[in-house]
Amino acid sequence: MQKSSTYILAIESSCDDTSCAILRDNFVLSNITASQKIHEHYGGVIPELASRDHQKNIVPVLTEALKAANIKLQELSAIAVTIGPGLMGSLLVGISFAKSLAMSLKIPLIEVNHMQGHILAHFIKDSDTQMLPEFPFLCLTVSGGHTQLVKMTDYLCFELLGETIDDAVGEAFDKAAKILGLPYPGGPLIDKYAQVGDNSKYKFSHSHVPGYDYSFSGIKTSFLYFIQNNIQKNPNFIEENLADICASYQSHLINVLLKNVKSLIKESEIKQLAIAGGVSANSELRKQIKKLEAELTIKTFIPKFEYCTDNAAMIGITGYYKYLKNEFGSLKSVPITRMEI
Ligand code: KG4
Ligand code: ZN
Repeated sequence: MQKSSTYILAIESSCDDTSCAILRDNFVLSNITASQKIHEHYGGVIPELASRDHQKNIVPVLTEALKAANIKLQELSAIAVTIGPGLMGSLLVGISFAKSLAMSLKIPLIEVNHMQGHILAHFIKDSDTQMLPEFPFLCLTVSGGHTQLVKMTDYLCFELLGETIDDAVGEAFDKAAKILGLPYPGGPLIDKYAQVGDNSKYKFSHSHVPGYDYSFSGIKTSFLYFIQNNIQKNPNFIEENLADICASYQSHLINVLLKNVKSLIKESEIKQLAIAGGVSANSELRKQIKKLEAELTIKTFIPKFEYCTDNAAMIGITGYYKYLKNEFGSLKSVPITRMEI
């Protein structure tokens, strides 16, 4: 007898994107995201405005996701929701909504760790011929709030080998962009300007951290002083050198990221490397990771653009693997703003 399909509704609301996805087993049927433009003016996410926007967006986003997947609520097998890490008010909207819907439909609720979701996005199937990572593999997860090096030994087995001791690399992109007068989130804009810049024109400081951990706060401060000093000499310094500044700074951040990755691969002898999280959308990082295939004789896995930045499909795929293992939450599930992977 053929096994019946599992239909999972996934909800992601940990920061400033309201997203709903419907998965049939490990295939995505729909993945709809409402990004909140309001934070652009403030140079960063304003938590209170984010949770209010989630409240406004969640019903229309769910309606659109159901319609695009051509699925009725009654057909769902379970609801997966981001439980953390993230902003308290933002998480609360998604979790309260998911709990009430699961209760009214009498189906299980699945708690998903957002950072696990970023990594497991690699297991979303788009075709039957697609290459998926095999265990064990390493994942460099780079987002607005986290920078982690994780060893994966199974779908739900995550071993943290290194992480940032202060700011995330996404923050180092966004804060530098703010200093340059660019709107939030600045990472994609630095990427864009860097494409026509000289990446060897300027040098920035390096923080030495033991093991496989990272530190980006000193780099960010050195960037601030570098800009201030140059503006004193030439008030038009940013306008006249924007592309070169972006290219040099971006290249520095990527070199810092890759240094630990390379030594870890050499020391661990793991032959597969994936990247995940919002910063994995960066075009230069994607290029540099691909180059490692020849340099280190490894296989690399780079997520599709739509699964790099926050999205509910990655929450859905993680929910699917938890569903298979009967790992369910309950009406007692609450947000966990700081959460280990
Ligand atoms: O994973 P994500 O959507 O949200 C968090 O979980 O934090 O990551 C957002 C981060 C932001 O810092 C944003 O600037 C960065 O990802 N980002 C990029 C690019 N696209 C998004 N950074 C550099 N280059 C990009 N193309
Ligand atoms: Zn994220």
